[in-house]
Amino acid sequence: MAPTSRTCLVTGAGRGIGRAIAVRLSSAGHRVAVTARTETDLAATAAELPGATLVVPADVTAPAAEDAVFERVEREWGPVEVLVLAAGVGTSAPVARTTDEQWRDAIEVNLTAPFRFLRRAVPAMVERGWGRVVVVASMAAKRGDPYVCAYTASKHGVLGLVRSAAAELATTGVTVNAVCPGYVDTPMTAATIATITASTGRSESEARSALERRQPIRRLITPGEVADAVELCLASAAVTGQGINVDGGAVQS
Ligand SMILES: NC(=O)c1ccc[n+]([C@@H]2O[C@H](COP(=O)([O-])OP(=O)(O)OC[C@H]3O[C@@H](n4cnc5c(N)ncnc54)[C@H](OP(=O)(O)O)[C@@H]3O)[C@@H](O)[C@H]2O)c1
Repeated sequence: MAPTSRTCLVTGAGRGIGRAIAVRLSSAGHRVAVTARTETDLAATAAELPGATLVVPADVTAPAAEDAVFERVEREWGPVEVLVLAAGVGTSAPVARTTDEQWRDAIEVNLTAPFRFLRRAVPAMVERGWGRVVVVASMAAKRGDPYVCAYTASKHGVLGLVRSAAAELATTGVTVNAVCPGYVDTPMTAATIATITASTGRSESEARSALERRQPIRRLITPGEVADAVELCLASAAVTGQGINVDGGAVQS
């Protein structure tokens, strides 16, 4: 029997992890709506998707952004059945020098926007008795490293959102999970490497090696390996409320 084709929405799909997840879902035969702010990035993602695609540019932090994005998908394809929340921002600074703006950005993009998108998705999923929500969190959802207090607080927060929503929805056919990657080979990590280079004077390859050593497997995670974990969340009705580590063994839980 052919697998069911689902209506999927992937935020942060313009590059990096979100793009890899969109490609994977499309390759598996699903309809995939992609959103991010940069239209040229979204067009590049759409060009890689083999199946039906909808490009919906949006800033996830804009007022009522979730309504605008969901209404567009619903008009074209009906209710969203699979929601993957990969939009995110990284920020780093010593705690005493973390600005209100850095704090607000991390919380708005990494925590408040996933809450609003999940809240918007849930009623139609519950009504149909099936739904999948996957948040791309981070190993920063499970441990505290130095110089990333705003990011870490936002990712701990979003894992709390996932756990509570999963418990509440456990009998409805809707699962809610997080995937928690270590350092992934994406433009976000390229920016982290550039920051380390600028602030420490280390070469780019030294900075990259330092991040590779953060994973016990001694390399960066690939975006495709994060997509593997998202596929597991889609396949199983028994996996819910989890933060699935995709970090080469960095966090054992
Ligand atoms: N890279 C890593 O090592 C790593 C590790 C653990 C967890 N993560 C998490 O994985 C997710 C994806 O990371 P990535 O490495 O793929 O990052 P990335 O390469 O920087 O891509 C981030 C995506 O999010 C979108 N985005 C950011 N702010 C947005 C906003 N306000 N509204 C709408 N879209 C927005 C970006 O598009 P626009 O800028 O065009 O809007 C882009 O498409 C993030 O949540 C990140 O925290 C990453």
